[in-house]
Amino acid sequence: MTERRPPAEPCGPTDLLRVGVEAAERCAAVAARCFPDPWSRQAFAAELAAPGTSAWLAPGEDGEPVGLAIGHRVLDELEVRSLAVVPGARRGGVGRALLAALLAEPALRVVHLEVRAGNRAARALYARAGFAEVGRRPGYYPDGEDALLLCRELGRPAAAGAGS
Ligand SMILES: CC(C)(COP(=O)(O)OP(=O)(O)OC[C@H]1O[C@@H](n2cnc3c(N)ncnc32)[C@H](O)[C@@H]1OP(=O)(O)O)[C@@H](O)C(=O)NCCC(=O)NCCS
Repeated sequence: MTERRPPAEPCGPTDLLRVGVEAAERCAAVAARCFPDPWSRQAFAAELAAPGTSAWLAPGEDGEPVGLAIGHRVLDELEVRSLAVVPGARRGGVGRALLAALLAEPALRVVHLEVRAGNRAARALYARAGFAEVGRRPGYYPDGEDALLLCRELGRPAAAGAGS
């Protein structure tokens, strides 16, 4: 399952690729460059194979992926399961384009996700994309950091330039 599709906004020299379980290795490679506790290839394979999952990769100039986005849909709700851009490709709009690809699915009513309270970059991206804080899970992560629960009801406009 691979389909080319232009990003909702310019994001450098990339077109986003819609991918399936065959991309588990590439997702794991991106995650390993983005998270201190990345999912394994096996974890991505299970995630990508799950019903209701949509996944996108952002290829860099050399064709190797520089970003990923994974969502899990139940009826008209989508949970953003993972979003990441490798350090050298950040602040170029790739994260915003990947998020917009997830949100562009038809007939979505609400999108939610959890983010570390101290993750300023991700919180800024989500705020710019129209997400609001709707809850907090104290000490949710293994290192004791709180998780924030964010939500966006689609149909409610995001800030200008949010790309979704
Ligand atoms: C969060 C992340 C995906 C952002 O990706 P990105 O490609 O750099 O994001 P974009 O360039 O599309 O940024 C979109 C907007 O988000 C905000 N933003 C992104 N990174 C930011 C930062 N470091 N500081 C402040 N604002 C930031 C800005 O408003 C930015 O718009 P602008 O550049 O026009 O000001 C990336 O930093 C990342 O992969 N971090 C590590 C993994 C992670 O934390 N994932 C999220 C888990 S919930």
